Amino acid sequence: MATGKFYGVGVGPGDVELITLKAVRILKTADVIFTAVSRQSARSVSGRVVDAVDGITGKRQELVFAMTKSWDDRMNLIRKNAGIILSELRQGKNCVFTTIGDPLTYSTYGYLMKELQLLAAELKIITIPGVNSWSALAAASNTILVEDKERLCIVPSYSAVAEKAALEHAETVVFLKTYNSRNNIIDKLDCADEELLYGSNLGLDEQFISTNIEQIRKRGKEYLSMLIVKKNG
Ligand SMILES: C[S@@+](CC[C@H](N)C(=O)[O-])C[C@H]1O[C@@H](n2cnc3c(N)ncnc32)[C@H](O)[C@@H]1O
Repeated sequence: MATGKFYGVGVGPGDVELITLKAVRILKTADVIFTAVSRQSARSVSGRVVDAVDGITGKRQELVFAMTKSWDDRMNLIRKNAGIILSELRQGKNCVFTTIGDPLTYSTYGYLMKELQLLAAELKIITIPGVNSWSALAAASNTILVEDKERLCIVPSYSAVAEKAALEHAETVVFLKTYNSRNNIIDKLDCADEELLYGSNLGLDEQFISTNIEQIRKRGKEYLSMLIVKKNG
């Protein structure tokens, strides 16, 4: 029986001040705080935000997740990590799993939450929303995302079909995960009709924000990166 509570806490996109008071309160009272690291990068952005919160007394534990194309690899680690969290919850510990941005938007938290629900239907799950990454990029450059009747579309940039459809159906498109796809997307844009904003590592020391296409093209592959495309007029 899992008697501890499970909290999914969004800690914002990286700037340590973009975490909510509610998230801070829950982090301070948690017995165990789990942060995600990937096999590809030992650095945890959410862990860095948690480090900046004063007054945390709970145990800290990193969980390794895979960001590979292999669905089996990813699910195996999600199941393994759900088991680790569940063993704490079954001891009555209140556990937090932190995520960058918002937990219910393109996040490992969603998979973890579903797995925990399957394993322990009685579990009390509480999700705390977080400031998402595209809001941080828009704010950093005073860019209005949408207004009046305009439509906003947020897509993970993997498939040319999804990218094209997004541009056809919205005035503003946020392309997340532009690690591999950034320059391909730029190639397809009509620069006379569209404005472009690129942001990487927002809120971190190496933050980069630009509207200059040549500068953007020269950037290396950056995992924490996104493009915002706005149609002119
Ligand atoms: C797994 S998704 C996480 C989205 C997150 N849950 C949110 O609400 O923003 C990861 C993608 O979010 C974007 N992202 C998240 N944090 C970012 C940051 N600090 N700087 C730039 N992009 C970021 C990037 O496009 C990255 O590839």
